[in-house]
Amino acid sequence: MSGNEFTVTPWSVEGDIDYDKLVQKFGTEKISPELLDRIKKITGELHPMLKLEYFFSHRDMDKILSEYEKGNKFYLYTGRGPSGSVHMGHLLPWVFTKYLQEKFGVNLIFQITDDEKFLYSDEKSFDDVSRYTNENILDIIAVGFDPKKTKILIDSKDIKQIYPISLEIAKRITYSTVKAVFGFQNSTNIGMIGFPPIQAAPCFLPSIIEGKPTPVLIPAAIDQDPYWRVTRDIAEKIGYPKPAQIHSKFLPGLGIRGKMSSSIPETAIFTTDDEEMVDKKISNSFTGGQPTVEMQRKLGANFNICPVFWYLRYFFDSEKDSNERARKCKSGELLCGECKADLQNAAKPFIVDFKKKREKAKDKVDKFLFK
Ligand code: TRP
Repeated sequence: MSGNEFTVTPWSVEGDIDYDKLVQKFGTEKISPELLDRIKKITGELHPMLKLEYFFSHRDMDKILSEYEKGNKFYLYTGRGPSGSVHMGHLLPWVFTKYLQEKFGVNLIFQITDDEKFLYSDEKSFDDVSRYTNENILDIIAVGFDPKKTKILIDSKDIKQIYPISLEIAKRITYSTVKAVFGFQNSTNIGMIGFPPIQAAPCFLPSIIEGKPTPVLIPAAIDQDPYWRVTRDIAEKIGYPKPAQIHSKFLPGLGIRGKMSSSIPETAIFTTDDEEMVDKKISNSFTGGQPTVEMQRKLGANFNICPVFWYLRYFFDSEKDSNERARKCKSGELLCGECKADLQNAAKPFIVDFKKKREKAKDKVDKFLFK
């Protein structure tokens, strides 16, 4: 990929992403200051991920708020493709979803697309994917969702909950639509081609559970948007409200130019890493710094492309501290070693604590599964 080209699909994110262009390309809306004000009226405070524009785009969030103000509750819906271990980048939208659950007092459906990840990967056996399913569920529970208001739906196990709806959806989506929206090729296996209705189906499950039209709000990274585009097109035809979305950006990885990949473990901090690994990964991280201290003092560094900066900004720094860090980085006052040390000091206790919650989650799994 050359220059400033980028691609974003549900299965691959590449290049330097221009989020404004992406909003145009996908036809979503940026979150406006007015919308933030409306959210603030209900939540009492704005989550840092909204303030700092980690969640930056939406579809119909305004409608969800209007219904909520009238006393009509929505459901939250999000999910996880169990293709590997969970890293800090995965946690951000989940932490945000938990905040929405708390502030709005609403139910959540959490889908695990083990089918999708089995079909997508040439190497993974179904057993491999199932192992990740069980492991990932511990991470999801450790985030702290309300067990009384949260159901985890495992596609291969709970298919009967969604199969009838997915048939209604599948019947109304043509091959030429999914080919255009998802970029399927003649060589794509037909399991993948038939998968989108399975991820669409939980959008309508709340209406069935509640016995009346009940919209969903989907907090997710913007790469999942193609699913919701096709779902929105057919929703009203089959008598359900269109699903609404709130979209996040991506957390850059610790690899060169923000690469993060579960297949290159050095590029991400996993929830199961020990303190030594966390230290080492951060020490070796790519940054926006200059090759030498002298050059950095003189020219300053580029926090925009620096994963260390973004990890600190989204997880640990206050808005004020983060802005100050950005200023000092640009001016050359701050060296990369200092930011790395700050991140190490913050990430280590975070991971230690998360691991404890993950252990405790083992006793809670039953409460979260569909009966
Ligand atoms: N396809 C998603 C992934 O690979 C998992 C998923 C299923 C999801 N349903 C969702 C993500 C709803 C966000 C919202 O990770």
